[in-house]
Amino acid sequence: MPYDLKATLQGLPDFPRLEGPRVRLRGPRDQDTDALFAVFSDPRVMRYWSRSAMATPSEAAALIVEIGERFEQRETINWVVADLQDDAVIGTCTLYQFSPRHRRGEIGYTLRSDLWGRGLAREAVALAVDWAFDVLALHRVEADVDPRNEPSRRLLQALGFRSEGVARERFFVEDQPTDSEWFGLLAADWRKRNA
Ligand SMILES: CC(C)(COP(=O)(O)OP(=O)(O)OC[C@H]1O[C@@H](n2cnc3c(N)ncnc32)[C@H](O)[C@@H]1OP(=O)(O)O)[C@@H](O)C(=O)NCCC(=O)NCCS
Repeated sequence: MPYDLKATLQGLPDFPRLEGPRVRLRGPRDQDTDALFAVFSDPRVMRYWSRSAMATPSEAAALIVEIGERFEQRETINWVVADLQDDAVIGTCTLYQFSPRHRRGEIGYTLRSDLWGRGLAREAVALAVDWAFDVLALHRVEADVDPRNEPSRRLLQALGFRSEGVARERFFVEDQPTDSEWFGLLAADWRKRNA
């Protein structure tokens, strides 16, 4: 029988919880509203994002509800990234656009801008990717990045993702047509790097 990603997702008992040396990936709670708002209301974080910066904390509260619903449907796994010490939310890391037929998914991430440059996002994304290959048995994880988003490109390349080409003007960011660079990482690449 072919591998059934849908069944694996359905079989997840709870929101997965992953821990590295400095960060924890977990499901969001109502108390995370203000910390999530701090991430998504920051124009530096939202510069290359396809939706605009949040204007009020109620949008962060709505996001928490949406994350819960999407997980219930096993459609998206949108972790919050928390500081391992005090559990305060400092970012997000999301697996989405699952394709059971092709055993692939897409990854996205954010980190509070005052914490950039310390490798915290890289740690979070590595935990999610490792889990996606190990537990979900994905064959491929992909990411689509604005080619001007140098920190994001560097993060992906540092983890072994390869740039696979640029789709021209694939998104409107605010009102600007924007290119989209595809990055891909195969399970075999990941295993080889981490053997
Ligand atoms: C993309 C984003 C998450 C990257 O965050 P970041 O903290 O700058 O990225 P990293 O985790 O890769 O850390 C970057 C630097 O920390 C350094 N670093 C310090 N300590 C480190 C450690 N222990 N381990 C790894 N790197 C470490 C690295 O050298 C790295 O610098 P380099 O890229 O010059 O090699 C962040 O810029 C962001 O939130 N951007 C806005 C949202 C966004 O665009 N998301 C992506 C959409 S596709």
